[in-house]
Amino acid sequence: MWLFLGMTFSLGILIPGKLCSDLQYDGDQVLHIVPETFQQVQHLQHLCSTLMLDLWKPQLLEDIRAGEDLHIRVPAPLVQEVKDSLDQHMISYKVLINDVQELVDESVLKERSQRQVPEGYNYTEYHPMEEIYEWMTQIEKNSELVTQHYLGNTVENRTIYYLQISQPSNKPKKIIWMDCGIHAREWIAPAFCQWFVKEILQNYESDATIRRFLQNLDLYVLPVINVDGYIYSWEAERLWRKNRAPYMNGTCYGTDLNRNFNSSWGSVGVSFNCTSEVFCGSGPESEPETRAVVQLIEQKKSDILCYLTVHSYGQYILTPYGSTTTPPSNNEELMQVAQKAAAALMGKYGTSYKVGSTSLILYSNSGSSRDWAHMIGIPFSYTFELRDNGTYGFVLPPDQIQPTCEETMLAVTTIIDYVDQKYFPGGAVMLTSGSLSLCLSVVFTWIAS
Ligand code: ARG
Ligand code: ZN
Repeated sequence: MWLFLGMTFSLGILIPGKLCSDLQYDGDQVLHIVPETFQQVQHLQHLCSTLMLDLWKPQLLEDIRAGEDLHIRVPAPLVQEVKDSLDQHMISYKVLINDVQELVDESVLKERSQRQVPEGYNYTEYHPMEEIYEWMTQIEKNSELVTQHYLGNTVENRTIYYLQISQPSNKPKKIIWMDCGIHAREWIAPAFCQWFVKEILQNYESDATIRRFLQNLDLYVLPVINVDGYIYSWEAERLWRKNRAPYMNGTCYGTDLNRNFNSSWGSVGVSFNCTSEVFCGSGPESEPETRAVVQLIEQKKSDILCYLTVHSYGQYILTPYGSTTTPPSNNEELMQVAQKAAAALMGKYGTSYKVGSTSLILYSNSGSSRDWAHMIGIPFSYTFELRDNGTYGFVLPPDQIQPTCEETMLAVTTIIDYVDQKYFPGGAVMLTSGSLSLCLSVVFTWIAS
């Protein structure tokens, strides 16, 4: 489509001179362990806490369990010590990532030097924030359906924008919300939000499903919530997760925005220590990024049918709640729709997703946006954990962006289609051939009777 092919970007100016060079992961390894006994679990918890190892899965020491996957990043100087200790305790392990820095470099530096010839926006690579800002501007300029809106400001006073995709209509419509990039290092998430917008705009005329739901639904897409964190993950620490709020006179940084919402805030799966990856902030909605989302969603909540929030990794479609194992009232329907979405996703490349409530199939956590959205009355609320299963973890190579986005697109449109059919059962204003024949047969039955 001309709109995208013709969109040129002066990438040369935007490439920062220094990428991810402040913190190196040279020789760091990610180990995969499945502890077999409680003693092993205890030893691993002890090891991880005394050496302050970076837990990739699960997020919290107390969530390490026998029989369940454990992924930890071990800094190079500690690799031998950790392996010796594992051997001593007869804990078997596999090296998932042999050199984290190598992977980081591959997904940023090499690839970005090859992209000097701009033939439009390249959706199959990761983009730094300046390019995403520019992309939003261009998308709005080039499509009649898209408008860019101000959502709020970050801790470091950057602007957060979302895109609204709306087809002109004179009847009231409902809203589908999707946000990406609440966790900085999960780069595949913003890549998906951008892919999603592109696909909708490219296909809404030719694809009957998209055409149909756009008559009833407006799509609100927030490509990057955690703008400060995302930039920090590009410029300083590739594996940064939280926002960049300073605490204790700047001796520690960052709140986990997905622990900061007002849904059983601070009750489970969080830390009150600002050095933790799951620090929940000084109070519910303490962070400007959280408040920005809350303000808009609160204002529109009676019209929002579906709240999707996109993360990585692990390959899950997660339903509420994370903070309690008590299922939501519409649990059965939430599960069925998610299963349908996972099946559609699998149909593309065979990627298998697990479906279920967060507290039951992943870990318990409070203060997530997904729980909050459901609690304030948004009926369909899901977290997507995109690829992969831990082979590359948070450093998913760029050659997986396209397949990941393609399959995820099928899952997301399955959900949106379901929601559309449910709330707009009459369907489109225009008669489709199906509804026309149904209509005629009703008339004939009536005449005949
Ligand atoms: N994006 C998720 C989070 O930040 C990751 C959770 C599951 N996967 C994992 N590797 N821990 O909570
Ligand atoms: Zn996440």
